[in-house]
Amino acid sequence: MKIVRTERDLRNQIWSYRGSGDRIVFVPTMGALHEGHLTLVRLAKQYGDRVVVSIFVNPTQFAPGEDLDAYPRTEKEDARLLKAEGVDLIYVPDPQTMYDVHHATEVKVGGVAKGLETDHRPTFFDGVALVVTKLFNRVQPDTAIFGEKDYQQLATIRRLVEDLDMPIKIIGAPIARDEHGLALSSRNAYFDADGLALARKLNVIMMKCAEDMRDGRHVDEATDAAKRSLLVAGFSSIDYVEVRSPNSLTVLEGGYLNGPARVLVAAHCPNGESSVRLIDNFAV
Ligand code: PAF
Repeated sequence: MKIVRTERDLRNQIWSYRGSGDRIVFVPTMGALHEGHLTLVRLAKQYGDRVVVSIFVNPTQFAPGEDLDAYPRTEKEDARLLKAEGVDLIYVPDPQTMYDVHHATEVKVGGVAKGLETDHRPTFFDGVALVVTKLFNRVQPDTAIFGEKDYQQLATIRRLVEDLDMPIKIIGAPIARDEHGLALSSRNAYFDADGLALARKLNVIMMKCAEDMRDGRHVDEATDAAKRSLLVAGFSSIDYVEVRSPNSLTVLEGGYLNGPARVLVAAHCPNGESSVRLIDNFAV
C-alpha cells in the first residue's frame, strides 16, 4: 500500500494503474476510520482492480460554528486499518494545495441538496460538492463509493455526477450498524454508557415509524408519532423526521405510501454535559 500526498505523486500512480488497464474504485473519507468505512472499502474491492482511499478533513464543509480543528485526525491508525483491508493507495492531500489562496470557484447542487440537512447546515453540501469534484478530478476513478448513512449526501453526489457529465459510477453502500442497530459513525466514539443506550433507541423508533407507514398509517401521523417517541425516550431535540422519495428526495404527495420511500431523521442525543447529533435513514 502506498501513501501519496502531492497531486503529482497521485497522478503518476493513477497513470500507472491506468497503463496496466486497471479499473479504479475510489472511497473518499475524512479519516477517523471505523468499521463503517471499512465496509465501503470491502464493497469497493468488488467494483474494480485498485482501491484508492482519500483522507482529507475538508474545511469547506464545516460551518463557522463547527470546530474543524477538533475533528479527530488518526492517520497512522487509519493507514493500518486500510492496509489490513488490502487498499492500494491512500491519498492525503495537503489543505493548502486543495484550496490555494486564489480559490474562487463554488459548486452548488440544487434540488436534492435542498431541505433536510441543508436547513440545519446551510453550506454543508456546497463544501461536499466542491471537494468531491476536486477529488474526482484528481483521482479520476471509474467508480466511487459513498455510504447510504449520509443519504442526502449520496443523492447530492449522484446529481452532481449526472449534471456535470462525470464518467463515474456512484455506488451507495448499505448502512453498517452495531448489534443494536445503531448506525456506525465516528461520533459514536463520544458516547458514554447512557448516551449510547439512548442512541440505540433511535433505530427502534424509526423502524416502528417505517412499519406504521407500510401498514397504511398517514405519513404525517407516523412521523409525528416518531418525533414524540424520540422526545419521550430522552432525545433533546429533533431537526427532522421526514419521508421522501428515494432518488429525487422529493416530498411525497398524498400523505400515504404508494411505492418505495425513505424516512430520514436527525436528532440530538444528550450525552453527559453535551449532546451528539445523530442522523439515520431507513428504506420503507
Ligand atoms: O462523507 C464524508 O466523509 C465526507 O463528506 C466526504 C464525502 C469525504 C467529503 O469530504
